[in-house]
Amino acid sequence: MIGSDSAIAEQWLRKGELVAIPTETVYGLAANAFLEEAVSKIYAVKGRPSFNPLIIHTNSIQKLESWGIELSATALQLARKFWPGPLTLVVPKSSQIPDMVTAGHPSVAIRIPAHPLALALLERLDFPLAAPSANLSGSVSPTTAKHVDEQLGNKIPYILDGGECKVGLESTIISCVHENPRLLRLGGLSIHEIEAELGFRPEFNILNNENPMAPGMLSRHYAPSSKLVIGNAADYLNIFDSEQLVCIRFSEWVAEIPKERQLVLSPNGNLDEAAAALYATIRKADAMKPELIIAEKFPEMGLGLTINDRLRRAQIQ
Ligand code: TXA
Ligand code: MG
Repeated sequence: MIGSDSAIAEQWLRKGELVAIPTETVYGLAANAFLEEAVSKIYAVKGRPSFNPLIIHTNSIQKLESWGIELSATALQLARKFWPGPLTLVVPKSSQIPDMVTAGHPSVAIRIPAHPLALALLERLDFPLAAPSANLSGSVSPTTAKHVDEQLGNKIPYILDGGECKVGLESTIISCVHENPRLLRLGGLSIHEIEAELGFRPEFNILNNENPMAPGMLSRHYAPSSKLVIGNAADYLNIFDSEQLVCIRFSEWVAEIPKERQLVLSPNGNLDEAAAALYATIRKADAMKPELIIAEKFPEMGLGLTINDRLRRAQIQ
């Protein structure tokens, strides 16, 4: 069922059931993080590998502390500046957090999301919500309740509908486990903003197949069912007819392809707007069942960095 009543969501969560929740980044598939049985349903419903740890969500730093989670000075600085918001911090785990949430890791990923309905729900709860993106493992993250319903509607009792996600890309993940903070995943909070706050750029430790500490970063992820490449449409016109292609473009249409086969993310050239539209547009491109989706490479700045990261992972290898 889809609805917008946080009290109904609360009831299902208390019973150990899964509820999809809106956040400003993407929709999450939430369970009471303190109930191992509920958390195990997340892995089952998503088809998620058991070695891939989950992010826990709450609405206050105080609650985190009451669950034994301590934030270092750097973690606190980032939390105070960017929460609620699209930033996840990896910090040492406390014994109250079940091992199943962290997939056995000694650290835990935490976030306060910036979505009024999510915050209204979290405020009612005396437990954190473990929530990965509410899609089947490996596929594109949902940015509307309808996206969730299409993939998971018959597997979960309730989808809390909070409209379209404003940021549209998963949170940026920073590990604060070691003395120096490390960037584990590019995301909806631009790395330039983090750099401005810290006064230095955190070490990049972006995870991939060779370094799958954050296995959401396995190379093939965020993938549509049609093949996707990053490149220029013109380079493929000797292999395909233009009717077999769909182009995902930043701000401008190209002359070689019919306009109706080009999906432009932000005619004004705004990277934040492009980010918010990206996943819905990949789904739309996929639904046109092309032989190939050709995505333009985005400017390597701000959220353009995250968009390119996601496109690379969605690409055929
Ligand atoms: O924006 C988001 O972060 C969304 C919303 C729902 O909050 N959630 C999300 O969750 O993207 P998920 O599970 O799709 O991605 C979480 C990432 C995974 O790559 C996971 O491996 C990493 O966080 N992660 C979780 N716990 C970790 C830990 N202790 N150490 C390192 N990486 C961790
Ligand atoms: Mg995900």
